[in-house]
Amino acid sequence: MANPNPALVALVSQAGDRAAETPVSSLFIGRWSSRALTGEAIPDETLFALFEAARFAPSYMNSQPWRFAFARRGEPAFDRLAASLLPGNQIWAKEASALVLVASKAAFTPPGASEPILSPASSFDTGAAWASLALQASLLGWSTRAMAGFDKDKARAATGAPESLKLEAVIAIGKRGDPTLLPEERQPMEKPSPRKKMADIVFAGGFPPDC
Ligand SMILES: Cc1cc2nc3c(=O)[nH]c(=O)nc-3n(C[C@H](O)[C@H](O)[C@H](O)COP(=O)(O)O)c2cc1C
Repeated sequence: MANPNPALVALVSQAGDRAAETPVSSLFIGRWSSRALTGEAIPDETLFALFEAARFAPSYMNSQPWRFAFARRGEPAFDRLAASLLPGNQIWAKEASALVLVASKAAFTPPGASEPILSPASSFDTGAAWASLALQASLLGWSTRAMAGFDKDKARAATGAPESLKLEAVIAIGKRGDPTLLPEERQPMEKPSPRKKMADIVFAGGFPPDC
């Protein structure tokens, strides 16, 4: 293995209830998506560090298809975006410090071309940007939770997203709070979730038929 920087890469096999089959940076197994959030204000420099991490994600021909519309708790735009979430998500997402609508734009003009083409990977790339954002948040002590459970028409109207954007998810960003902030029936879910076994998702040489 190449000489990792120990300050940046601590290889661990355990983070809380989660165990890694192969030691990995705590960044990856230590991140999990909270629902219990304190609602405290998020500083600009923190919020923009998350977007900065997203901005440097890799993408098809460097097309950078990701687009983000954000609103902070207390702003009318936050309430409009929160209202686009399905009721089960609204319960806790209204206590986020910020909500972000993540969208992707497939059309882009490659370097040297004069006409736009459609990226075959705009959602894939935007997923990479969201993951970078989530990991940067975790590094800075903030939690994120993506939500696909939202009404796209309402979110489009709330943010003015043009039809050229595919709406992917709403992200709740906040400081992890005590589980008792949640309705009682949701409190037991407030913990890191398990994962499939490595052998169920990674295959040498090709895929088995039942994967
Ligand atoms: C694209 C996407 C959509 C999701 N939609 C929702 C959602 O609508 N509501 C919700 O509570 N969690 C949602 N989640 C969160 C997942 O349930 C969560 O990431 C998963 O259970 C793994 O848990 P972890 O992120 O804590 O490791 C979503 C996550 C992703 C990536």
